[in-house]
Amino acid sequence: MLAVNKMHDRASTPGPTHAELSALGIETLDLDMICRELKSQFSLAAGKTMAITGAAGFLGFYLAKALAHWNSQSETSEKINIVLIDAFLRGQPDWINQLGREDNVTVIHKNVIDPVSVELHDADYIIHAASIASPIFYREHPIETMDANVTGLRNILDFAKDRQTGPDALKGILYFSTSEIYGDPDPQNIPTAETYRGNVSCTGPRACYDESKRYGETLCVNFARQHHVPVTIARPFNNYGPGLKITDKRAPPDFASDVLSSRDIILLSDGSPTRTFCYIADAIIGYYKVLFNGKAGESYNIGNDSPEVSIRDFAQKNVDVAESLFDYKGTVKFANSEDADYLTDNPHRRCPDISKARAELQFEPSVSLEDGIRRSLVWYSENRDGDCS
Ligand SMILES: NC(=O)c1ccc[n+]([C@@H]2O[C@H](COP(=O)([O-])OP(=O)(O)OC[C@H]3O[C@@H](n4cnc5c(N)ncnc54)[C@H](O)[C@@H]3O)[C@@H](O)[C@H]2O)c1
Repeated sequence: MLAVNKMHDRASTPGPTHAELSALGIETLDLDMICRELKSQFSLAAGKTMAITGAAGFLGFYLAKALAHWNSQSETSEKINIVLIDAFLRGQPDWINQLGREDNVTVIHKNVIDPVSVELHDADYIIHAASIASPIFYREHPIETMDANVTGLRNILDFAKDRQTGPDALKGILYFSTSEIYGDPDPQNIPTAETYRGNVSCTGPRACYDESKRYGETLCVNFARQHHVPVTIARPFNNYGPGLKITDKRAPPDFASDVLSSRDIILLSDGSPTRTFCYIADAIIGYYKVLFNGKAGESYNIGNDSPEVSIRDFAQKNVDVAESLFDYKGTVKFANSEDADYLTDNPHRRCPDISKARAELQFEPSVSLEDGIRRSLVWYSENRDGDCS
């Protein structure tokens, strides 16, 4: 087998070729890594039921597939029962239908703003990831976005507070918040620690997302304090990779779409805002560690603390990797968006301080930006419709 674990040490040397990565299978490579890193956590879930809301989305793709992968490899007869819940706001992807045909997997079409019913009754663990996450789409559907994070979360927490004792007691709930709760941090708070209170507009075009996530965290903290609900909070920082729909309108799939169509990459800004990007396999390990090992009522930044790159440099890295993989000849170009609010309240810099997750969860992202882009572009090249089917 190719020395995949050493890929991240080779950022400046030529990476594996398209053919080498294809032969390995990007998803298998990632899922093996996730299951290896989460061996003790997934063993705790053997024979238990894990329910995931928003399961048909980007994060749901590997959150769900990792559990199924563990089931397929584990020698124990006790498997993890997987319940995948989604309102399928942007369609029901084929991959979830395929997963639903596996033993121990149930797919449920449900809107989380409706009261909890049978779908959670057997749950030992609940992951609440239902919420539109792409800025373009949450600005089009602000009320639905707030409802999933406020009413949907409240339904789950109310259900959980009555399941605190006895054989049915819930073992853990993970709420997906966001790095956007920090808004546009001042430079003294970059890298941003969990203790930073944020610089957020409560009425701007992004407020439906940022403020409902902030209130969601407040709900979690107080259900943990007042009712001892075992809920933990993850604050994801810019994930990318397999499972992110090419039509999602976030930068990484937009760039992949340009590359695979042999077009130039067009930036709808001057490309100066900076981000750190976290490859999805690393992030998924972090999220499950927050669920299994995090402290109730506490939030954890999950992302990469370096490199912090401008969107322009991130686009250029896509160009460079695509050239080495596919002999891509495009360049980075600039244009203005027709959407007047495209850049309103867009944070100038975003970079997490992950020392809390490092110290308490032994979280350590390992896939370099170049390797992550390489894995992503190969995955998109093999999933051209980009809708993860
Ligand atoms: N991907 C990231 O980098 C990132 C960053 C910050 C926060 N998050 C958070 O992580 C979670 C998952 O993000 P994602 O990237 O997978 O999002 P996504 O938009 O790809 O998927 C979200 C899923 O939730 C479902 N959904 C939305 N509202 C629902 C409702 N009311 N009932 C049932 N299902 C509903 C959608 O149908 C979709 O399948 C979200 O809470 C998001 O805010 C993600």
